[in-house]
Amino acid sequence: MSIIYDAQNKTFKLDTKTSSYIIKVYDENYLLNLYYGAPIPETYISGREMRRPNASFSLANPVIGEHGFTPDTAPMEYGCNGAGDFRISALSVRNANGDSVTDIRYVGHKIYAGKPQIPGQPSTYVNDASEADTLEIYAEDKVTGVRVTLYYTVFSTCGVMTRRARVENTSSCECEIERVFSLCVDLPTMDYDMITLYGRHCRERDAERRPLAHGLQGAESKRGVSSHAQNPFVALAEHGADERHGDVYGFNLVYSGNFSALAECDFNGTTRLIMGINPVDFGWKLAPGEYFDAPEAVMVFTEEGIGEMSRIFHRFYNSNLIRGRWKTEKRPLLINSWEAAYFDFDTEKLVAFAKEAKKLGIEMLVMDDGWFGKRNDDTTSLGDWFVNEEKLPGGLAPLIERVNAEGLKFGIWYEPEMISPESELFKAHPDWHVHVDGRVPMLGRHQYVLDVSREDVRENIWQQMYEVLSRNKIDYIKWDFNRNISDAGSALLPADRKKEFFHRFILGTYDLMNRLVTTFPDILFENCSGGGGRFDPAMLYYSPQIWASDNTDPIERLYIQFGTSMCYPASSMGAHVSACSRTGYETKGNVALWGTFGYELDPRKLTAEEAEIVKKQVAEYHDSYDLIHYGDLYRLVSPFDNPYRAIWQFVSPKKDRFMVTLVTMRRQADKKVIVKLQGLDPDKRYRNETTGEVCSGAWLMKAGLVLGYAAYESGESCVVYFSEV
Ligand code: DGJ
Repeated sequence: MSIIYDAQNKTFKLDTKTSSYIIKVYDENYLLNLYYGAPIPETYISGREMRRPNASFSLANPVIGEHGFTPDTAPMEYGCNGAGDFRISALSVRNANGDSVTDIRYVGHKIYAGKPQIPGQPSTYVNDASEADTLEIYAEDKVTGVRVTLYYTVFSTCGVMTRRARVENTSSCECEIERVFSLCVDLPTMDYDMITLYGRHCRERDAERRPLAHGLQGAESKRGVSSHAQNPFVALAEHGADERHGDVYGFNLVYSGNFSALAECDFNGTTRLIMGINPVDFGWKLAPGEYFDAPEAVMVFTEEGIGEMSRIFHRFYNSNLIRGRWKTEKRPLLINSWEAAYFDFDTEKLVAFAKEAKKLGIEMLVMDDGWFGKRNDDTTSLGDWFVNEEKLPGGLAPLIERVNAEGLKFGIWYEPEMISPESELFKAHPDWHVHVDGRVPMLGRHQYVLDVSREDVRENIWQQMYEVLSRNKIDYIKWDFNRNISDAGSALLPADRKKEFFHRFILGTYDLMNRLVTTFPDILFENCSGGGGRFDPAMLYYSPQIWASDNTDPIERLYIQFGTSMCYPASSMGAHVSACSRTGYETKGNVALWGTFGYELDPRKLTAEEAEIVKKQVAEYHDSYDLIHYGDLYRLVSPFDNPYRAIWQFVSPKKDRFMVTLVTMRRQADKKVIVKLQGLDPDKRYRNETTGEVCSGAWLMKAGLVLGYAAYESGESCVVYFSEV
């Protein structure tokens, strides 16, 4: 068992291959976090309960006495509001008396093999109960009857723990949750850098690193979705930690709504990190007997640097988050109509795309936005999910038959959570959009958000989708979401429950997506939100791939893909070759190969020379698919650190094949590029698949690979493959 209860010391020890975590039941049943870090043999370490030296008016529990312990500075396992712990709290519940003092203490626990799922919410899973053990700690506020279950699941062989909390009202009166975080970690120092992923449309997930400072810092979203602006990911890396060395903690929230991931450093130089639903514009009423489940957070610790933290996330998400047929089955190589035609297409044009695409070796045609209602631009028709027969005479069936006859699969675009004011749906249901009475809601891309917190609204959209999907042979869906949520309100929610809207909206989205993947398990599902505005683990639970960005310029994409790879695997990263940008097709392909790979262009417009390059890329895509989808990524030279070039490497799980890609962003004087490879077997001998040269893994990792003088002009690139001799 990876979870031990030490009854003598009243501690829980949670072990993974790369970490240990110790919780203690202290005097008066306070739950304390004694340790989270590299693996250690002890189940208890003394002297960690109290941290008082510099306390400032810190308060004591009178039963324990003023002998040193104070919730103000103690490493609280799940810090609560209002009872002597003044740091940012993980839980605050307003009770029937009107106050929100919340003070939970240990009452019991349970340890078992396996992992329970969260009802109605996405979460990581076990393929087999032996893969993980779960600890449930029960804690109660005796005064208010608030009962909390803290869930910890330990995936011991892969260095991952997950955490979440359930809050239950065991009293006879209603109460209201004001804030409930999924995790709270109290670390004894603040000697860390925080890494977050910030961005905007077309520049998603730029990795930013800065030292922790006293006070609050972190990443948040109030946009209704996880957003382009900040990702629900935070890492704490010890100063000086790099890709290969140093202590690193990674935290990622399995949630697609408003989130908050904050670190607070106090006067003692300690750090509390909390992650969960953003308490701004949140509240949740609990009637007696009701409970609320906070989403799950994934935690990784490693002593082997930022690169290894990422690889732990990648392996874990590939095996314990992504689901369904397309988790392991090879995904079809697609061409998408968006950048090729935008709204300007008809059956003939799409069939012409399919014919040309087939010649290039492409396997699926995706018809993007514009096939429904009167959608000839972005001003109308969201919500009217019936075929525009002016563009597609006879509907989808004749088109799909012809595309299939060319030997291609067929995919389609949806934006189910949106409604255009100019649509049949809006005329029929003018109160179905997200709004509050008396205000004209903000518009985004000429559209409103549909109130999918409502069951009747979801049912309508589902029926419309079902009608199309059940009658036609659809192999793929791209699910888009093209604005943020303002004027948050639902016509059905009473005034005292309006704060529940944002979370109910996300639960509604999950419900719709769940219906889709369970009713149509064979459909390959790709998520999207104006590019990568909803790239989070919750979406990965439903869709194995997510469109990473509308920016398809390969040089710009380097930053997006390096940042995204902080925690998301290559198998999930939608990356296409497009016609945009002056950079050549070789480099576009070499960069897009990193992700799920596809095309986003009019294949009829390729020159003969470009078409030849594409055919080679298609062959390379097949050849390198397993290496990239299931291999380990090493970020050898990051564009965030080096202005001239980016270099990365994928190594197969058996370490019997690898590839190294170099892209030059800016020409540097003729400097020979030698890069030390990583992750190889030092004793194996590897042959360069192009030159035939053979070197040991040790040589390539210690002396390095000479990448020659190729790929030195701006925008040039090269890929080298090696296999075991
Ligand atoms: C935004 C997406 O990111 C694009 O790829 C495309 O699908 C458009 N929406 C369509 O409106």
